Amino acid sequence: MHITFTQSAPEKVRLHVRIVNSGADLSDLDPALIDGAKAARFKGSPGQVFEGFEMNEGVLQRTALSGAGEVDADKRRLNVERAGAALTAKYLTSGEKELVLDLSHADLSGEEAAAALLGLRLRAFRHDMYRTKLAKDKRATLEKVHVIGVPAETEAMWADNEAIAKGVELSKRLTSEPANILYPETFVEVCETAFEGTGAEITVLDVEQMEELGMGALLGVGQGSVRPSRILAINWKGGNPGDKPTAIVGKGVTFDTGGISLKPPAGMEDMKWDMGGAGAVAGGMLAIVGRKAKANVVAVMGLVENMPDGNAQRPGDVVTSMSGQTVEVINTDAEGRLVLCDALHWTQETFDPARIVDLATLTGAMIIALGHEHGGLFANDDELADQLLEAGAATGDKLWRLPLAPAYDKLIDSPIADIKNVGPRGAGSITAAQFLQRFIRKGTPWAHLDIAGMVWADKPGHSWDKGATGFGARLLDRFVARFES
Ligand code: BES
Ligand code: MN
Ligand code: ZN
Repeated sequence: MHITFTQSAPEKVRLHVRIVNSGADLSDLDPALIDGAKAARFKGSPGQVFEGFEMNEGVLQRTALSGAGEVDADKRRLNVERAGAALTAKYLTSGEKELVLDLSHADLSGEEAAAALLGLRLRAFRHDMYRTKLAKDKRATLEKVHVIGVPAETEAMWADNEAIAKGVELSKRLTSEPANILYPETFVEVCETAFEGTGAEITVLDVEQMEELGMGALLGVGQGSVRPSRILAINWKGGNPGDKPTAIVGKGVTFDTGGISLKPPAGMEDMKWDMGGAGAVAGGMLAIVGRKAKANVVAVMGLVENMPDGNAQRPGDVVTSMSGQTVEVINTDAEGRLVLCDALHWTQETFDPARIVDLATLTGAMIIALGHEHGGLFANDDELADQLLEAGAATGDKLWRLPLAPAYDKLIDSPIADIKNVGPRGAGSITAAQFLQRFIRKGTPWAHLDIAGMVWADKPGHSWDKGATGFGARLLDRFVARFES
């Protein structure tokens, strides 16, 4: 979707839209429209859209109002974003190719106006290239949005938001692709293309290099697949040369069958999005790099496919991680932590980060605990936890903190190795986090986001259609912004 700023509405565009607040004064509109809005109980609340028609010199004109709620609402920016997104939801496949968006009626700051455009753009993402027979009237038509009536600084702010949109779109795309198309090598290729010419530095580790490094935990997960594992690192040096980077690390299991501890068939297709953590990291990084953030950031993604075959690892196998700690693999379906432990260790050895945040679709138990409203946050540092909670609240990628404690840690001691990869049934998301914590150096602030319930949605949300949500990308971008020099 192309967004352009102009002084006055171009002629010939028949769809005119304005964003309005709760109880807005509509008195300059055609009386029939005012009555219509009243009859339709349009109140201007966030997400509410009213459409009316009028004849203008013999030509039919569509006029729509999208509600942004109260001017002084806590979540004003997100409400305005929702007003933009609701318009896309209504008009993306409406047959209209262009619309005029008048933002002069809602008392918007430049930042808020740019937020409306972000919502408009984000809600337009689709992944329908494999639907060769999609009916014509179900295809996206809306291509161009002419924006009028914005504060002068909006255009510059939109440039940053457009970079964020591109990042979220990359996350959604990676998460949407089926696993026969997207596997470790092609995940790397997509990112190489996306980051081409941005100035970010890309490093890829292949199986041989990871063997040399001793990444027995990560490689054990991938050994049952014909798709070779990879580690992908993207390094952005936008900050002061001496500053230690912020590291963001993602679980990129491009398909999770469970391995020999095979998952039941029903719903297994969902496990194509078990790379959602890595998708969020890649997308967040594209936003950060696209904005040319003045911060040093390194993104690391552990990419594997978890398959059962004659060479797959078995329950009871003991693997040696790069850190030297040995792991008893009780359940080959608890593979994400095995991938992350080597990715986290390598990240610390290679980049000596100031702080680390990992994102993973790590446990089904996280969905039982928090459903699809919040991602789970675990952290060894209160300040880092608060920073992430704030970034989540500001972007709508909401988080909820859960505990870590020595008593949980004890539950994953193994009788035969240093640690086992599953604990008892209770507190499954916490013991998974405890597992990761054993691979974090003392003194390094670290947080783990279990986003199992957040990367995929069965129904449309405010800035996504059903399917990939892009959760995490914006949160990471916002989080990193606080470390900019
Ligand atoms: N990728 C899954 C977690 C998951 C499940 C994410 C459902 C999204 C939706 C993970 O690898 C897994 O299988 N975890 C197991 C851990 C268990 C064996 C301790 C789980 O949650 O059942
Ligand atoms: Mn699994
Ligand atoms: Zn998994």
